[in-house]
Amino acid sequence: MLLMWLFGSLACFKFGVEGFQSRYTSIPSKPTFSHAGNDVTFTWRYHLTHSDRANFKVVVFGIWMNGDISIPLVSVLRNGSAIFYSNRVSWLGNKTMASFRLHKVSIDDDRVYGCKLDFGAFDVLDSVRLTVIAAPQIKKSKNHQLAQVKVSEGQSVVIPCKVTGNPPPWISWSQDGRVLQNSTRKHDLLINSAEEHMTGLYRCRAENEAGVDKYDVLLLVISCDHQSGDVAFHAQENKAKTQHNLDGLSKFHAQATLASTLVVVFALFVIFGAYFFFRYTGARNKRPRKYTKMPQDEQARSLLGEWSSFTDNGAKI
Ligand SMILES: *[C@@H]1O[C@H](CO)[C@@H](O)[C@H](O)[C@H]1NC(C)=O
Ligand SMILES: *[C@@H]1O[C@H](CO)[C@@H](O)[C@H](O)[C@H]1NC(C)=O
Ligand SMILES: *[C@@H]1O[C@H](CO)[C@@H](O)[C@H](O)[C@H]1NC(C)=O
Repeated sequence: MLLMWLFGSLACFKFGVEGFQSRYTSIPSKPTFSHAGNDVTFTWRYHLTHSDRANFKVVVFGIWMNGDISIPLVSVLRNGSAIFYSNRVSWLGNKTMASFRLHKVSIDDDRVYGCKLDFGAFDVLDSVRLTVIAAPQIKKSKNHQLAQVKVSEGQSVVIPCKVTGNPPPWISWSQDGRVLQNSTRKHDLLINSAEEHMTGLYRCRAENEAGVDKYDVLLLVISCDHQSGDVAFHAQENKAKTQHNLDGLSKFHAQATLASTLVVVFALFVIFGAYFFFRYTGARNKRPRKYTKMPQDEQARSLLGEWSSFTDNGAKI
């Protein structure tokens, strides 16, 4: 009983002493939340005792690991000189306040940060977790075409859906509104044994509290043989289904082909027109050949340039 009382009063005494030591008087909110793309400011206010003030060496802000700063991002010396190890961090503090701003945070900045007041013989430490909230983003092909995955009947296939986002989004796969899979961990859709009737549009949808993203993939199951009447029937059915899905695309292709044909015809018309015009005027004026030749060649070349750039576009579509 007496020992417990002694221990208790000792603890009180020790706590009382610590109250007078150098310490943080205010710290950042834990965890600190930020949306991706924003700037985040971490501020620690502190109180230094008179003797600690004399021993103060440096305040360091950086990435925290195992109870200390493992990667410094900024160091501020007692004379106010700041050393930056990253160009994404700035210092906003003064003699009573350590304040650091992290610019344009991304999911990669979602980690623990620390602030250390270094007095040589000891440190005053604190750490804070930064949680970066980011709407889901699905990695898509650059050319904005409908993604296609082909598989032979009976084979297995993985339809990929690469998603980033924080908190980890729910990633669901569905076909014709029927949910096939819904998970925060499984991104890809695995089809073990593809059957012809599985041909169709598959949608990957990623959602978290910050937003939603979607991605459609056309799965084409290629049949190996049509000997069984049943398979042949399914093949017909799926052909119609796929045709429906592709109708939009082929319409687009047809329009693009028509447009490029018209451009070629027009370009040829202009080239021949220019040729006959210069030939005609050249003959009438009887000017030296040298004089008319230059502009004519230049025009033809620029038209050819235009024409070839159009066909380039045509190829891209
Ligand atoms: C602060 O101190 C450091 C090292 O002691 C020195 O290199 C730096 O020039 C000083 N800066 C100022 C503003 O006095
Ligand atoms: C440090 O900055 C804070 C906030 O801008 C201010 O309230 C405080 O008075 C400043 N302290 C010194 C010593 O300049
Ligand atoms: C996936 O599951 C989550 C959690 O149960 C739910 O909120 C979400 O609506 C589901 N998504 C789909 C497409 O079913």
